[in-house]
Amino acid sequence: MPKVPAEAKTKTGDAHKRVSSGIPGLDKLIGGGFLENDIYLVTGGTGTGKTLFCCQFLWDGLQKGETCIYFSLEELPEDIIHDAEVFGWDFQKYIDKKKFIIEYADPFEMADLSSQVREKIKQTGATRVVVDSTSIFGMVFEKESDLRKALYNLIKALKSTGTVVLMTSEILEDSKALSRFGVEEFVVDGVIVLSYLGVGEVSSRSLMVRKMRRTDHGTDSYMLGITKDGLSVKKEKGL
Ligand SMILES: Nc1ncnc2c1ncn2[C@@H]1O[C@H](COP(=O)(O)OP(=O)(O)O)[C@@H](O)[C@H]1O
Ligand SMILES: [Mg+2]
Repeated sequence: MPKVPAEAKTKTGDAHKRVSSGIPGLDKLIGGGFLENDIYLVTGGTGTGKTLFCCQFLWDGLQKGETCIYFSLEELPEDIIHDAEVFGWDFQKYIDKKKFIIEYADPFEMADLSSQVREKIKQTGATRVVVDSTSIFGMVFEKESDLRKALYNLIKALKSTGTVVLMTSEILEDSKALSRFGVEEFVVDGVIVLSYLGVGEVSSRSLMVRKMRRTDHGTDSYMLGITKDGLSVKKEKGL
């Protein structure tokens, strides 16, 4: 039996495999990792590290021989690939090997997104999927009810695909909300909140596990560092 860390024990036993987040210090806060078949929201203001978090999660999967998909709704794939190089993550190598699929999804062809993502998962046998960022939905739908329906449908379509899905949502600075449109956090299985606080010369990043179904987790905020290897959760409590 693997030793379950004291910080987070699984409530109902692990019917599904736990998948490492790739972020040092995080897995022990979430019962050993994300649950296969579940969908998680990585939320926070702009520049808090959501895209970096997603890249690091997929890079970890690639190192374990998994196939990974990145659906970018905001940034161009070449920009994401280029930014990842700073951390020594050579995504291009895995694109060439057909282990990493990164696609720009046109937000104005959103109607199709759910079936497009599901199809890609089936075709490639991917085990880790990222959709970054769902905030762009706000640009596409005029009616709030249409937006919520589309977002809800996307989340439902990605749930139970046998993969771990990370979805990002950018919240406005100083917002107490957990997601941009207020539906995402209810439908997903877990929410991780990233924050950035800059006070004068001092700045600090933090991470909080705000919701994690089937997992006993704390809701303390932890300091989050960015080094040359990417993000890491520190032992110290954050603000
Ligand atoms: N090599 C690096 N060293 C330190 N900080 C970095 C590095 N690369 C990116 N960052 C920080 O991470 C932030 C970008 O994170 P990103 O994942 O793009 O944010 P988000 O997707 O939440 O908007 C930048 O604003 C910068 O502060
Ligand atoms: Mg981003």
